Amino acid sequence: MELSEIISFSKKNGFVFPSSEIYGGFSSCYDFGPLGVELKRNIKNYWWQKMFQRNNMAGLDSAILMNPAVWQASGHLTSGFADELVECKKCHHRFRKDHIKGECPDCKGKLTSPQQFNLMMKTFVGPVEDKTAQTFLRAETCQGIYLNFQNVLQSTRKKVPFGIAQIGKSFRNEITPKNFIFRTREFEQMEMQWFCHPKEAEKFFDFWLQQRLDWYKELGIKDLRTVEIPEKERAHYAKKQVDIEYKFPFGWKELEGIHYRGDWDLSNHAKHSKKDLRYHDQERKEKYFPHIIETSVGVERLFFTILCSSLKEVEGGRSEKSKKEKEIVLKINKKLAPFKAAVFPLVKNKDKVVKKAKEVFQLLNNFSVYYDETGSIGKRYRRADQVGVFWTITIDFDSLEDNTVTIRNRDTMEQKRVKIKDLKECFTKEFLLTD
Ligand code: GAP
Repeated sequence: MELSEIISFSKKNGFVFPSSEIYGGFSSCYDFGPLGVELKRNIKNYWWQKMFQRNNMAGLDSAILMNPAVWQASGHLTSGFADELVECKKCHHRFRKDHIKGECPDCKGKLTSPQQFNLMMKTFVGPVEDKTAQTFLRAETCQGIYLNFQNVLQSTRKKVPFGIAQIGKSFRNEITPKNFIFRTREFEQMEMQWFCHPKEAEKFFDFWLQQRLDWYKELGIKDLRTVEIPEKERAHYAKKQVDIEYKFPFGWKELEGIHYRGDWDLSNHAKHSKKDLRYHDQERKEKYFPHIIETSVGVERLFFTILCSSLKEVEGGRSEKSKKEKEIVLKINKKLAPFKAAVFPLVKNKDKVVKKAKEVFQLLNNFSVYYDETGSIGKRYRRADQVGVFWTITIDFDSLEDNTVTIRNRDTMEQKRVKIKDLKECFTKEFLLTD
């Protein structure tokens, strides 16, 4: 699907709305609607469970605002975290140098020579807006993990190798945010930092890269490739970097980064804070800075990837037999689907069928399910398919006699009869996040 179609689908169906729309919007800021918020939460929950499953992992939720010294130590306030900015002398639009070729794309004006532009978002803490009160919104969540490395070690008594996982907001003053929610100034990251002995770093790099690729395969995301980033283009902290790229409507772009950060973070924070952040390895009888393997993906970027890879246009007549125009089906992984099921009474003007359908809906209250009795059954199927509902459950006259319902599968369109008393168990088995 084209990017413009994905954007209008997202708005129409309550996935993503432009922020501050009634005031004309606000550049590159978006709000997540009723279905978007469900999808986002499902992505985060699934990632979290996957990270912890069979891995020695601890969780963290650190603050967005930190002592500005953190960003000095991490290298984010120096040229390591800056893009080259150029300005068109004619129309005065500003661009990232690596995002344009040759002349200014709007008006063919000449460009100024590049200037370094730091991406950290500044803010002030307290009532006085001077240099001493200045700090930054975090640009990556992982710095909070390094600062708490010793706290987590002490409170959990974990031993290296182990990981710390965190999900939270990050902010970057991107020069050219673009392509819908692909690159924004405010976004969420799901980051995992794996602390290991330096000699094991290579092994764990390969392990985590494979884990992440396996997860995307499980989610049904195809069109992925891995690209090893050459030294000149790597992030300032990375000794090795492999990007997992997806083929977006505007080309191959980074979805997730796997970084071997060595001891860059712990040794720099130790130096700047004058605290000993080394790990005392009782088994090896060594004291050292654990090396770090990082996996880092943006929630919104993955959200967008999932929409791109799941939205399918299919031949008409699939749900509404009489209609010939194309139908949209969101063939999203069932565990991520905003709604797992929809409950329909076959007819809406028969009290007993409606009453039974409402009872079934109540029974499934704890799952993400909605009730719909408006329009023909075909229209209701069509609406459900469009937003990725995995099961549609229909209550008909037979249900009144034998206490069964029909479950229709979104992808195969197969229908099966299931006893109402077994429904809860079916749901638990079908939609369990990890097993
Ligand atoms: N801690 C490492 C780190 O932040 P990164 O490659 O700068 O590495 C990791 O970012 C991931 O965060 C990217 O692969 C992308 O999914 C997401 N991301 C980064 N900048 C983003 C932006 N401006 N908008 C949306 N997502 C972004």
